[in-house]
Amino acid sequence: MSLVAVVLAAGQGTRMKSEIPKVLHLAAGRTLLGWALDSVAGISPDRTIVVVGFGADQVAATLPEKAEAVLQEPQLGTGHATSMALERLGEVSDADVIVIVNGDMPLVTTDLLSKVLRALENASAVMVSTELAAPYGYGRVIRTGAGSLERVVEERDASAVQKEITEVNAGVYAFKGGLLSDALAELAPDNAQSEFYLPDVLPILLARGQQVALVEAEPHEARGVNSHDQLAQAESVLRSRINQYWQRQGVSMQDPSRVYIDAEVVLSPSVRLYPGVHLEGSTRVQDGAVIGPDVFAADSSIGPGARVWYSVLRNAEVGAGAEVGPYASLRPGSVLGARTKVGTFVEIKNTSLGDDAKVPHLSYMGDASIGARSNIGAGSITCNFDGYQKHHTEIGEDAFIGSDTMLVAPVVIGDKAVTGAGSVITRDVGEGALAVERSVQKEVPGYAARREERHQADKTEE
Ligand code: UD1
Ligand code: CA
Repeated sequence: MSLVAVVLAAGQGTRMKSEIPKVLHLAAGRTLLGWALDSVAGISPDRTIVVVGFGADQVAATLPEKAEAVLQEPQLGTGHATSMALERLGEVSDADVIVIVNGDMPLVTTDLLSKVLRALENASAVMVSTELAAPYGYGRVIRTGAGSLERVVEERDASAVQKEITEVNAGVYAFKGGLLSDALAELAPDNAQSEFYLPDVLPILLARGQQVALVEAEPHEARGVNSHDQLAQAESVLRSRINQYWQRQGVSMQDPSRVYIDAEVVLSPSVRLYPGVHLEGSTRVQDGAVIGPDVFAADSSIGPGARVWYSVLRNAEVGAGAEVGPYASLRPGSVLGARTKVGTFVEIKNTSLGDDAKVPHLSYMGDASIGARSNIGAGSITCNFDGYQKHHTEIGEDAFIGSDTMLVAPVVIGDKAVTGAGSVITRDVGEGALAVERSVQKEVPGYAARREERHQADKTEE
C-alpha cells in the first residue's frame, strides 16, 4: 500500500486579477501552495504530486525536492487534473490511498488530513465539508433525506434554493486508488463550465454502493482563497497561528493582533514584541531582544538583548545589546557589533560597526568600516559616491569624528584620530592626529550695538 498526496495547482485563479498564478500568492511570507504542501508533508506521504498548468514552470520552480510536478494542459477542471496525477502514478489499486487537496487552501492542517485518513478506514472515499455563513463561490453539499452525502453542486450550476445551503465542499478528499481511477473514467463535463469536476466522482461511487464519508471541518481550516479579500482573511488566520506558536515558545507580545511574523522567521524565548512589528523572510531575533513599536525587519538578525524601535532593517545584523532607532534605516550589509548604537535619523549601508561604536544622530554611513568604540558625531556623512563609483571609508578604533564631518571617500581615519566639527576630510588622517578643515573664526567687537543704531536710523527716515 502506498499513500499518495495530490495537490491541484494548475488553475489561473482569474478572480485574483493577477499575472502571478494564484497558488504563488504569498500569505505570511509563504506561497499558498507552500502552506498546503507543508500540511501535506505532515502526513508523510510516499509520493507528493503537484498538478501544474497555468504558469507551470514558475510553480514547479517553487516545489520542494520531494514533490513531483505533473503538467495539466489544457486545464479542464479538478477531475481532469486528478486524472493527470493518476496517469503519472500508473497502476493504482484500492490498497493505495490518494489524498487530494486544492492548492489554494493554505489553512488546511495536518490534523485535518489525519482525520480524513482515519475516516477512510471505514469508507471508500472521504470529502471534507464546512459551514460557511457566506458560502458564495463554493460547491454546496447536497445531502439525502437520511442526511448522508448525495452530491456537490457548484455555484454556477446551483438553483436558487441550493444556493441557500451553507454547508460547502472544502476541497480536501481521500480515496481508495482503484475506485477513484474507475470513477474518474466516467466523469462527464455536463455542467455550466464544461469541466470535469472532481466532486462528481462521489455520486458515481455512491451509485456503485460504495461508502462516502463526510468529515466536518471548522471554517478556519477549510477556507479556500479565490480573491484578494479571501487571501487577507487566510493570512490573518495564519498570522494568529504563528503568533500563538511563538507565544507558547515564550515570546511576549503587547498586542498580537498587530504583530506580523513570516513563516520562516525564528524567535528566541523572552523576546518582546510591541505593536507594528513586521518580521519578514529569514529574520532571526535572539533572547531578550525588545522590538518595536513600528519595526520592519527583513532577512535580518537581531542579537540577544538588543533594542530596536521605529526602524527599518533589510539584510542587516544587529549585535548583542545594540540599540537601533528611533527612526534608523539599516540597509543591506549593515553589521552592528555588540553594544553599538545607531540612533535617530541615521542611515547605514554596507557598513560595519565594531563593538561599542556609536552613530547616535542624523548621519549617513555607507561603504564604511568603523572600529570598536569610535564615536561618529551628529550630522556626519560618508561621501561615498562620486557620481560614478562607490568608495570605501575606513575609520579605526577609538576615533572621534566631530559633528558634521564630511568624509570624502576613499579615505582612512586612523585609530584614536579626531576630526574637528564641520570639517570636510579629503585626505587620510594618521593615528591619534587631529584633522580640522574649516576657516578661522573672526570676531568683530561691538557689532551688535552698531547694527542696532543703523536700524534706528532707518526707522526715523520713514
Ligand atoms: C472547488 C470545488 C468546490 C469547492 C472549492 C473549495 C470543483 C469542481 N469545485 O471549486 O466544490 O467548494 O473548490 O475551495 O472541484 N485546478 C487545477 N486544474 C483545473 C482546475 C483547477 O489544478 O483544471 C486547481 C486550482 O489551481 C485550485 C484547485 O484546483 O488550486 C481548485 O480550483 P478552483 O478553480 O479554485 O475551484 P473552485 O471553483 O474554488
Ligand atoms: Ca478554489
